[in-house]
Amino acid sequence: MSLVTSKGMLLDAHKNNYAVGAFNANNLEMAQGIVAAAEEENAPVIVEVSQGGLSHGGIAEMSALIRALAEKATVPVALHLDHGMDILHNILCLREQFTSLMFDGSQLNYEENVAITRDIVKIAHMVNIPVEAELGKVPKDPDEMTFEELKQYMTEPDEALNFVEQTGIDFLAVSVGSMHKMKVRKAILEIDRIKKLRETVDVPLVLHGSSGVEEDSIKKGIEAGISKINVHTYLAQNFTRDMKKYLNENPDAIDLRKYLAAGREALKEAVRHKIRLFNSNNKANQIEKINVDVESDDIETVDSIE
Ligand code: CO
Ligand code: CO
Repeated sequence: MSLVTSKGMLLDAHKNNYAVGAFNANNLEMAQGIVAAAEEENAPVIVEVSQGGLSHGGIAEMSALIRALAEKATVPVALHLDHGMDILHNILCLREQFTSLMFDGSQLNYEENVAITRDIVKIAHMVNIPVEAELGKVPKDPDEMTFEELKQYMTEPDEALNFVEQTGIDFLAVSVGSMHKMKVRKAILEIDRIKKLRETVDVPLVLHGSSGVEEDSIKKGIEAGISKINVHTYLAQNFTRDMKKYLNENPDAIDLRKYLAAGREALKEAVRHKIRLFNSNNKANQIEKINVDVESDDIETVDSIE
């Protein structure tokens, strides 16, 4: 089917206490592995590309590739911008038919984060595309801060409510104990904080940096209210491991198809594992309305954008 927005699948996940995986793709083989895994598990899936991934592959090129895979797929596939750092990249992705956006203003002060997020939401909602934004810090990697230091940057429920109301976002990325780029799974989520956030704000919550979180803690996080989970590092680890293994066993190999296929197969199995962990397997057919309208009642004309 054609690409769908992330709105309908995440509302279904939110309602039925499972999480949709958002898996990062940086090239053809990663995108193929992700979509193939979703089909084998009959799961809705979000293929996401970060700004780094877009500068590697090209915005139009990555979009065309993932759109083609979605059209052949039997499960709903959304194309999401992961960590858009400014208005420009969100608009460029909107122009290239992305069906889900993210603005990451977590490095800005609260007022600036609200102002830019709100502008992106207004624009994206005019063409029915949902937007994720981030409040609180999910550190770039464990070298940036310790888990003890992280506590003061975690998302506060009252501020989160204010942020959602002021910006009109569709999904909220929260800081609840995870960090990006962790190669070992040892982080533990603050489950009580997730519960409080779930009670306080009514939009689906997003977990970044899941590769570093203990899998049992991920399960508890989903039960407590996480509806979208981003996975990148774990996929890269699995892809690279089996590609290296192939090259070590076949030192004279020069055929890219052979060693990239080894990586793709490992990535596919890694995605299947995460889909089952997130309990999104066999959910592809139950989503009542795939392209749910985003709320745009306060938007009349382009003139209303400040
Ligand atoms: Co992230
Ligand atoms: Co990421």
